[in-house]
Order: sequence, then C-alpha cells, then structure tokens
Amino acid sequence: MRAHAITSHVTYCGVNDREKSKFDGIYELPMGVSYNSYVVSGPDATAIIDGSDAAHANAYIKRLEEILGDRKPDYIIVNHAEPDHTGALPMIRLKWPDIKVVGNAKTFDLLKGFYGITDGLVEVKEGSTISLGGDSVLSFIMTPMIHWPETMMTYFAQDRVLFSGDAFGCFGALDGAVVDDEMDEVERYYPEAERYYACIVAKYGLFVLKAYAKLQNIDIDYICSTHGPTWHSKKADIVELYLRMAGWNSRKGVVIVYGSMYGATSKMAEELAAALVDEGVRNIRVHDVTLTPLSFILADLMRFESLVLISPTYNTDIYPPIETLAHALVERGVQRRKIGLLGSYSWGGQSVKKLQAVLAPLAKDCTILESSPEMKQALIEGPRPAIALLAKDLK
Ligand code: FEO
Repeated sequence: MRAHAITSHVTYCGVNDREKSKFDGIYELPMGVSYNSYVVSGPDATAIIDGSDAAHANAYIKRLEEILGDRKPDYIIVNHAEPDHTGALPMIRLKWPDIKVVGNAKTFDLLKGFYGITDGLVEVKEGSTISLGGDSVLSFIMTPMIHWPETMMTYFAQDRVLFSGDAFGCFGALDGAVVDDEMDEVERYYPEAERYYACIVAKYGLFVLKAYAKLQNIDIDYICSTHGPTWHSKKADIVELYLRMAGWNSRKGVVIVYGSMYGATSKMAEELAAALVDEGVRNIRVHDVTLTPLSFILADLMRFESLVLISPTYNTDIYPPIETLAHALVERGVQRRKIGLLGSYSWGGQSVKKLQAVLAPLAKDCTILESSPEMKQALIEGPRPAIALLAKDLK
C-alpha cells in the first residue's frame, strides 16, 4: 500500500497482513487483516499514532520514511500495547532514538515487560494534551478494556479525527482504499467487523458502552481504528453495529451447532431446522462444529437471538469441539440469548447434563431452555416430539 492522506494533517501509514492465517492463532483471516497506523503532522511536531506487528516492521518503517521525508517523528502514541500494534516499536526506537513514547502507566508496564522499554516515556492521563504546534493538539481519552487494561483513544480536534484503537475495528486487509468513501462495497467489511467483535471484543461490551458514553460530546468526522477501513461517510453504521453487539442485541433467528461422529446429531439438527421453519422462523443457520470455524459460529451468535448446541456423549463427556464452543460462550459472558441443548448417546447419555453444568454461569443473563432430549443410538423417533417443542420455544 502507499501512503494515503486522510485529512490535511493525517496520513495513513499502516500495513496489510495477508500472510497470517489465524489472528491470535485461533481466528481465520480469509480477507487478511490490516495494522493501521497514522502520522499526524503539526507545524512544530509530528506524531505517529499506533504501530504495526513485528512481522511487518520493515515495510512499515519504509512507509514511515516515505511519509516523513527528512522530518523526524517526535512522538509515537501507543493507544494499545498489544504486540499487533507495538511489535515494530523497538525498531522505531532504533531508527529514531529521540522519539517519545506516549502512553499511560498501564501502557508502560506492558512495554517494559514485552520490550524492556523504560525510557523516553511521556505519561498521559484522561484529558491530557500534547501540542504539535498551532492548533494541532492531541488529547487523550482513557478507554480501558477495549480490549486490554491500558487501552486509550486519541482525539485530534483540528481535523475532528478519533483514533479509536481496537474499537470500531474489523478483520479484513485494505484493498487499496483506506477511507470508506473510496469503497463502493464497504459493507463487505461489516461481517468481518461482527466476526472481529465476536472473537476479540465481545467479552468487553460493557467497556465499549462506557467508552461510547465518553465520546458523546466530541465532534467526530473520521474514526481511525487499528484494524480495517477509516470510517467517514459510514461511521454511523459501524458505531451502530458496535453498540448493537455491545448491548447483546440481536434479530430473530436460530443458530444450530452440532458435532456428529456417525450422523445421529446431524439428524437432530436437520429435524430441528425443519421444525423451526414450520414454526415460522426464517433465519436459521446450521453449522457442523468440526467444519465451520469457531470465529464464524461466534459471529452468527452475535447476530441471532437463539443458539442450539447438539452434542454426542463422547468418552462420557461433551463432544470436545462443542465443549470448546460452550467455554467460548461462557468466556464472553453471553447475554440475552435463548440457548437450547440436545444430545445423543450410545449407551449412557452425559453430554446434555454436562453442557448444562458448563453453561450454568450464563443462566442469569440467558434463557437456558429446559427441553433437552437426548437421542439413543440412531433412534430419532423418541426425541422427535421434544425437538418440536424446542422449536416452539425458540420461535
Ligand atoms: Fe489489535 Fe487488541 O489488538
């Protein structure tokens, strides 16, 4: 990618990563991912906002050199210390040893641990400002837990630009264009925003809402996140999407996820899907847990009101990939969902009972439906009436 002007003072200098197959080693990246970084130029000083993963540090620093020319950057603002945004920081400090690293006390604890960085630091707090000369001023808003404790946002009032860190970010590399205005199909990033949120941010929805409350009195023209497009003409869409997910709001629909060794539980999934259609449900997604990657299942969970897990009993326990999904739900503190459970067994049913135990922490904010039949061997007739009842509860 080339350097890309966003406003008269703000230039995009991020990089695409199309090599990494899984984010956090877990979540697929079919469209890649971008590590967004920006240069803010004032009359007297220049700041870099956010950084890059170490794997792309060479390309990233080359980009910075092109943008900066014979200027030296005065500051690098670390809105988020996670290594996908700070991996290149040691190389930046080698290249420009006088650069000041701007963060808060929690940022510095992380930078010390990850990189041994203990000098050249400028600490900021809520409301602190840094002048780049004239009307060019950066101010700082503490927004912890989006998605680490040190996370903060930087606001550049002169051009009404909010550098929002991971908030309002999404998976998906940038295919040439940076700002949403330059994309006819920016909507293709929305499912990637849902998947990113489901995987990375969902546990911290309350903090997204708190951060949003803090932003109410700020005039924002551009939202520059650490991943994905710069939001301008569509910024209301991405904010609405994030707020919808942060509040665990959803639309009518049922996500059915099954694991199956010999086809019994897949029969239950088919039976339930057909029963749901009979009940008038029009959004139904069926996933084989061993074929659909976890991140796509979690994204569907963000969209729809109901979820059904169907697990065989496996070694007197839950089928392992379904158990992984169940733990992912508990980890995220899923709220405002109906959850149904079905199972199958050959000689002793355990999976539903054990799923109920795993999911028990969600019971205060979700409805765990009682009708939870298990199917013995390949005998669908027994549980069929209970599946029909479950469909009624889910509609
Ligand atoms: Fe993109 Fe939480 O780092």
